Amino acid sequence: MSKSNIRANNLVYTIKEGQSARNILNGISCEIQHGILTTISGPSGSGKTTFMYALAGLIESLQGEVLYGDKSIYDLRNTQRDNFRLNNINFIYQHLNLFGFMNVEDNLKLNYMLRNEKVSKELEACIDKYLEIMNLGNIRKKEIQSLSGGEKQRVAIIRAFVSGADYIFADEPTGNLDKKNSLLFMECLKDIMKESQSTVVLVTHDKKILDYGEQQLIIEDGKLV
Ligand SMILES: Nc1ncnc2c1ncn2[C@@H]1O[C@H](COP(=O)(O)OP(=O)(O)OP(=O)(O)O)[C@@H](O)[C@H]1O
Ligand SMILES: [Mg+2]
Repeated sequence: MSKSNIRANNLVYTIKEGQSARNILNGISCEIQHGILTTISGPSGSGKTTFMYALAGLIESLQGEVLYGDKSIYDLRNTQRDNFRLNNINFIYQHLNLFGFMNVEDNLKLNYMLRNEKVSKELEACIDKYLEIMNLGNIRKKEIQSLSGGEKQRVAIIRAFVSGADYIFADEPTGNLDKKNSLLFMECLKDIMKESQSTVVLVTHDKKILDYGEQQLIIEDGKLV
């Protein structure tokens, strides 16, 4: 099932606003091809983050279907779905979701800790490599809450890079980064995709990064255009 396409079938997500209802996702169907970079762009508030949450199995009361290969992620029971996500998906959240009271290194190893897996020498070397590349070599032991916005963003990126997940969802991963670090991110992402054939879905407004997208989706008003 890993390394398969993701298929979204007629996704509708409705919220109540006072007496009325509003469709945040308004019937989205598409196929996310495995092993390539799919970009998502569109105006603020159009539903990009919600769509990625839907694809990653994070929305309860979603209508429609999300298939990884022939497995419907919303048909999995809660713990099974959590396990599926833990083993297959890494999400770089728009608001990063790092643990402020833990240091950089422990945040980077979090997926492995949650999976009760030993941190191998290879993984340590991999973490060292990306900390070096992203110019964070000296902050391994620092607590997250003491980092700048751009430093935090790079930690969240490295966590996805070393997660070993087949599917990476990245929600405006370069939003807090300068040009140099944005390019570094893209170079590393390309290498990782080549090495491990990961599937990457990435929301961005950055034209330079959009140009890397092999499949480019645009969302407006909860619909693909
Ligand atoms: N759980 C929720 N409850 C109420 N409104 C929500 C909820 N989730 C999303 N929304 C609304 O749905 C719309 C789409 O939100 P979403 O975060 O998906 O947009 P976005 O395209 O990612 O925007 P941005 O570019 O600003 O990050 C917004 O109007 C937002 O306020
Ligand atoms: Mg968003």
